[in-house]
Amino acid sequence: QDPRIAGISSAIRIIPDFPKPGIMFQDITTLLLDTKAFKDTIDLFVERYRDQNISVVAGVEARGFIFGPPIALAIGAKFVPMRKPKKLPGEVISEEYSLEYGTDKIEMHVGAVKPGERALVIDDLIATGGTLCAAIKLLERVGVTVVECACVIELPELKGREKLGGKSLFILVEGEGA
Ligand code: PRP
Ligand code: MG
Repeated sequence: QDPRIAGISSAIRIIPDFPKPGIMFQDITTLLLDTKAFKDTIDLFVERYRDQNISVVAGVEARGFIFGPPIALAIGAKFVPMRKPKKLPGEVISEEYSLEYGTDKIEMHVGAVKPGERALVIDDLIATGGTLCAAIKLLERVGVTVVECACVIELPELKGREKLGGKSLFILVEGEGA
């Protein structure tokens, strides 16, 4: 394992019982305060993706907006925000996904990507996999190839990886809990 991973892992703060009892919240704001760990996080993604002809980094609101743009800049790709509903002003396509209770949606601007482009999808964390699955579907609906999804943290107990339809997922750290 890369020696930088331990520092990244210890910079993530676990807050028990947030936002509700039983949830062990993986707080990446402390990672952002640790200049070495934050840089190492971005560097590990950049080293993996810089030579893969990726022209699109798609980040999911909100925490995918933190990690996506520095990666996009470093690999020479554009950054495409995937936003919560009714935030984007232009014409959008949207994809619904299920939450523990009910459903949510993410949206992307029509014209932000072109058919045949190669994309990386970035988020901070994969739990049930619903969010990333919706992001993959949105991009594939417009003819984009999703090369891989990448997250800082995976909660393996929730088996979100299985929801990605065989799409490859790269993570830096495994977290505990559901
Ligand atoms: C969290 C997290 C991921 C998603 C993972 O986002 O940042 O985007 O949940 O869950 P899943 O794998 O079960 O879909 P959340 O929607 O809570 O909000 P935020 O990023 O806007 O803070
Ligand atoms: Mg999120």
